Parts: sequence; structure tokens; C-alpha cells
Amino acid sequence: MEFKRRTHTCGELREKNIGERVVLNGWVDNRRDLGGVIFIDLRDRYGITQVVFEPAFNIEAHELAKKLRSEYVISVKGVVRHRPEDTENPSLPTGMIDVKVDKLVILNEAETPPFQIKDEIDVNEDLRLKYRYLDLRRPRMQKNLLLRHKVYQIVRKYFDENDFVEIETPMLMKSTPEGARDFLVPSRLHKGKFYALPQSPQTYKQILMVSGYDRYFQITKCFRDEDLRADRQPEFTQIDVEMSFVDVEDIFEIVEGLMKKLFGEIWGTELQTPLPRLSFDEAMEKYGSDKPDLRFDLEMVTLNDLFVNSGFRVFTDTLAKGGIITGLLAKGCGNYTRNQLDVLTDFVKKLGAGGLIWMRVKEDGLEAPVAKFFNDEEKKSLIEKMGAEAGDLIFIISGPRLKALSIMGALRLEMARRLELIKEDAPPKLLWVTDFPLLEWDEETKRYYAMHHPFTSPRLEDVDLLESDPGKVRARAYDLVLNGNEIAGGSIRIHNADLQAKMFKALGISEEEAQEKFGFLMNAFKYGAPPHGGIAFGFDRLVMLFAGENSIRDVMAFPKTTSGLSLMDNSPSEVSEEQLKELHIKVTGH
Ligand code: AMO
Repeated sequence: MEFKRRTHTCGELREKNIGERVVLNGWVDNRRDLGGVIFIDLRDRYGITQVVFEPAFNIEAHELAKKLRSEYVISVKGVVRHRPEDTENPSLPTGMIDVKVDKLVILNEAETPPFQIKDEIDVNEDLRLKYRYLDLRRPRMQKNLLLRHKVYQIVRKYFDENDFVEIETPMLMKSTPEGARDFLVPSRLHKGKFYALPQSPQTYKQILMVSGYDRYFQITKCFRDEDLRADRQPEFTQIDVEMSFVDVEDIFEIVEGLMKKLFGEIWGTELQTPLPRLSFDEAMEKYGSDKPDLRFDLEMVTLNDLFVNSGFRVFTDTLAKGGIITGLLAKGCGNYTRNQLDVLTDFVKKLGAGGLIWMRVKEDGLEAPVAKFFNDEEKKSLIEKMGAEAGDLIFIISGPRLKALSIMGALRLEMARRLELIKEDAPPKLLWVTDFPLLEWDEETKRYYAMHHPFTSPRLEDVDLLESDPGKVRARAYDLVLNGNEIAGGSIRIHNADLQAKMFKALGISEEEAQEKFGFLMNAFKYGAPPHGGIAFGFDRLVMLFAGENSIRDVMAFPKTTSGLSLMDNSPSEVSEEQLKELHIKVTGH
């Protein structure tokens, strides 16, 4: 039977259309057969319209409608009418009307779907990913993808209006060092050689600065072979930005302008700028994280001063080794049971802490297994410094600085969860974290790694420390943090060959290795590199937060599982012997 093109979408008809003859196309959301009258909720991405089949309107259409099942694709022709009294549905935009059908065409049948196409479904995510095309029909997923679309448009418009040029960079490239493993693509034409998929367009955007495109942006895919989590995918999207002749402040201004636009257009809230800033050191000491969630207070307190002359070996050892003693006050938790405290102790031990010290605050002092190690003066100062009152609980962790702080930071988040400190309607908290260390020491390999990437500029006043005390050098690097999520990160770059050479030296990268890996960039820098810097947003994370979702998979059309599988098309998968041969590759160890 012939297909009739729709005159309206399923979200469009209102009372003003009453009496019009219309054609609607869509999916059968559900079917109710009420004593000879058949009601279908017809659905497309614009909404739902009720269509009605009655023998009195048309016998043939009514007969055919008996065959309809969920997810059949149909075309109906009929007249818009006011719904009979008491059957209106004010919660639906089309709820005042329905369509009396006199012609039905079944465009396609459908098998019974493995789950219902509605928002509240109780199925595991693997099934949703396997049948992603059905999952994406659900209103919530459609809302998320439409929001994602809206964010693309706002971003493109914003950068265009600010004189940025969108330039695409290659997907087949030389490996860039963003700290993850590369995805490699074997070359057929060049035996034994490989392209890498970009972990980011970092080197290209810097080269574009040398080429004079002083304001560049791109919305682009990046690929990283790393352990996956709710906020990490092997391929994800960045809004990548680079600017010439700028300092940190100029980049902050552009980024804050974009965030202001997004907050306004998506949440309808006015974002106050300039945004607050926290140095990395402060963020770590107060919140135990370089992406602190500031929607609740619960600040950690450094207690080193208090215990310099302590009789407690654990603390004095920590201090002697240059470590930190950090405390956290759990208000009103003084009545936690031994069992609850054991669970929390296990929690921090799993993260690598030696243990968790806890003390109940009583009217007459502190009650804890370790209390005997402290004199009255120490106990009094501790209560005072923590701002504790009777009925509270004090936690203390001591150890190597960053490790102890991170673990206490995790406990801070855990306590916030237990105490429900993050209210549903808490206003979003956006901030900059600045002054990251340039280098990070790795105990295992006994060498320094770049905390951002090796092109990040040190603070100029710290350059001399690169040789004498590399761990102390601060970077001109920054992250943008929203509600405890790192949504963007960037830096001012090194644009001078001598400084870059010093950086490679500090990283233990030999001249030959640097030449081999980054020679093309260093060569480009010999031909007039402007001072430059930039930033990249994790686009999926940004959309996830605007959508109020907890996983970036819910704002991506076709994500992978946490083990990197695409369940819908079954990739990765084996390839033919012929393909492998062409690529000069032999698979061993099957
Ligand atoms: P960085 O590595 O910090 O910086 O990445 C920028 C932002 O990308 C997001 N992100 C991810 N999102 C989803 N899945 C992943 N696996 C993933 N990895 C990172 C984060 C992060 O803040 N070239 C530099 C930027 C620069 O210096 O300009 C870079 O890529 O939100």
C-alpha cells in the first residue's frame, strides 16, 4: 500500500488544528482495545499523539488496526477532533485532541522489542547497548542527544562569533603523548609501520599556531586506550582550542564566556564570572582532589603543626618523612558503630592507606583507641582546629602528602554521599584549578612524567628549578572543574626550543628520542613560533553534566562498554587472514 507523507509530526497537533485532515507517521507506542474502539499512541521524536480507530469511522482501517503491535511503523490519515470529555490528558502537549483515523497503512512490522520504549525500564545496560537503536528511541535518550546537538551549535556559534577558525586535523597521525596508550593503525603501504589515532590534536594545534591561525577550535574525536569508567570512553569528543599571543587570563576569559553562554542557554542561569580559582596545593589540602566538588563544604584540615612534638610514632614518622597529617570532621557522626567505622577503615585501606584514625568527640574530650597517645594540650588543639563539638567524629589519615590527601579526599566524597550533603537542587559549582606541578614522580619507573603533556610551559620564575628540584616546578596549566568533574584542561605552551629541550631532559627523554618523536614540532618551532596556549573540553562530560546524567555513555549515541566492546556490532572482531596478510601482520597466541 502506498506510503503517505506526514503533514505533521506526532508532537505538533493542538486544539487549533481541530477539524483538519492530517497524515501522521510514526511508531506504535502502545495499543488499547476498548470494546471495539482501538486507541494507539503514535510516537516519533517530537512527541505522542493519540489516534483512534472505530468501525464507524472506517471499517477497513479498524480491521487492520487489530494487527498493530508495539513498534510497528504506520501512517494514518484522519481528522483532528477534540478528545471526548473527561478523556483529555493535560500532561501531554497533544493531550486535548486525538485523530479519528479513516486510513491506515502499515509501513513496517516489528518484532517484540526486548525492552519497552519508555524512560523507566529495569534492564541492564548491556541489553540497551546491544539494541542501541531501540534504546535511542526512548524519550530520555532522545532528549540527551538533542541536548548534545544544542551544545554543539552553541559552541560553534560562540567560537565563530569570537573569530575562531574551525580546522580539522588528521585521524591517522604520529603518536601524541597524552599519557594513555595509543590505538594503532597498521599501514598496508609501509610494511611494519603504524599510524596512531590521535589521543588529542595537541601537536597539530600547536603547529597551526606556527602557521598563523591564531584562534583555532575544533570539535573532534580523540582516542585513548586506557581503563574505562563512567566518565571515560576509548573514543570521546573534545572541544579543542588554541590561541596565540595570549596568557592564561585570555584563555580563561574565552572559556568563561563560553560557560556563561552554556549556563544561560541550557540551564537558564546566570553564571557569575570571573570564576573562583584554587591552586592545586589548596585544592589538594582542603578537598583531597584536583577536581574538588564544592557543592558541599566538608573541608579537610592539615594538622602537621599540631603534632610536631607528638608522642605518637605514626605521626612523627610521617612528619620526619615530609608527609602530611590530614583531618576530616564528620558532623554528628560520633555515634557511628564499630562496624560502620570498620567499613570506612576498609574503604581507605583499599585505596592504599595504612589505616584510618577516628576519634569520637565527647563533652569531656576525645574517645578513641589512639587517644592515649595524645596529651591534653594536643587533644584540645585538635578539637579546636577541627571546629569539633560533642557528638562529632574526627577522622585522621597520615602518610605521603599526595597519597594521604587523595585518600582523605575520597573519604570526603564518601561521607558526603552517606550524609547526603549534595542536595538535588544544589547550584552547580564551576571553578578553575591552577598551578599544577609540571612534573609527577613515578615510584615504579623512578622517573618524572609530565602532569599535562611535555609541551606545557613551566612558570617562568620556576625554570631554574627544572634541573635542581624538578618536583617543585609549577606549570602554567589549569583545569576547569564542574561539580567535581574535570571538564577541561589546558596550558600555556613552551614555544622556545631551548626550554623544550630542558623539559625533555627533565623527563629523561634523550635528544634522539625527542627528535624521533617530536622532531616535526621542534622543527616547526624553528620558523617563528608565537607564544601560545589552549585548552580542551571533554565534550561528552560537559553534555553529561548539563543532561544531569551520571555516565557519558548516556549522552553518546554508540558508546562502548567499560571493557571497550561495542555490543551492537560486535567490535572489536576478528578479520580475515587476507586482510592481515595485506597489513603484514601475524596474530599469535590465540
Ligand atoms: P586532557 O588530556 O586533559 O587534555 O583532555 C581534555 C579533557 O578531555 C576529557 N577526557 C575524556 N573524556 C572522556 N573519555 C576519556 N577517555 C577522556 N580523557 C580525557 C576530560 C579532559 O579534561 N591536549 C590536551 C588539552 C590542552 O592542553 O589543550 C588534552 O587532551 O574532560
